[in-house]
Amino acid sequence: EQQPILIQGPMPIEAENFAAKLEDVEEETSGNFVFYKGKVDDYPVIVMKTGKGMENTAAATAIAIEKFNPASIINQGTSGGHDPDLHVFDIVLGERTVNIGSLKTGHREDGEGIAPKEWIPMDLMASEGSAGEDPDAENIRYFEGDKELLKAAKAVKDTHEEGKVVEGTIGSADVWNNEVDRIQWFHENFGTSVEEMEGAAGAQIAKAYDVPYLGIRTLSNNKTNGGEYNPNTAEANQEYVYEVVKEYISNR
Ligand code: 5AD
Repeated sequence: EQQPILIQGPMPIEAENFAAKLEDVEEETSGNFVFYKGKVDDYPVIVMKTGKGMENTAAATAIAIEKFNPASIINQGTSGGHDPDLHVFDIVLGERTVNIGSLKTGHREDGEGIAPKEWIPMDLMASEGSAGEDPDAENIRYFEGDKELLKAAKAVKDTHEEGKVVEGTIGSADVWNNEVDRIQWFHENFGTSVEEMEGAAGAQIAKAYDVPYLGIRTLSNNKTNGGEYNPNTAEANQEYVYEVVKEYISNR
């Protein structure tokens, strides 16, 4: 029995184009989550519509792993640029993914105000002790993208004609940052290429089960260089991820 490849997309426009490419599709739902179970080149592939955000993604990922015992997971969709050299329609392969909402503030007393640039990263996976007190938790937790998936993705870079494909760091949180100085702060301190709201949540759960995982994100917007939001990037990203999946299957 072949283990399926799971393709995750948060919004309808980020999952349904890929789902429409599957052969012999059967639909299944669990809670808010929709699974399109089908085939690509005779190999089992399941597209999942997870809904937006960290909580939906974490839950959907755990349920999918328990239900379907996947060989690997690709989390894909749109994102906002943190790197001014990246433009709308470019694609970032998540060599690393990081939760940019996992932060600890400085100590400030009543009336001393708030200072977000002094906040430090907090690694909830560092130890079983209190993340607020444990100095080991004052670190950035990066989740590594799977090498085999990255290899397949790099091999088909040229099929994406609307922009370039680069390796980078995907930052995730249930936050949409529109402050360019804050975006630059993440870019400099966490090395983020783009931000979105799902990748690190799926990566954390995939790692808990030891399932290979890769984020693949197109830029639908980039505040750092005036890149206006374009929803058509979601479909172009799925076209590329479809090529990645075919390449990955051909090596199995
Ligand atoms: N910031 C945060 N999330 C973004 N998304 C696209 N661009 C951004 C951005 N600049 C994605 C998220 C989420 C939805 C709002 O779009 O991943 O699913």
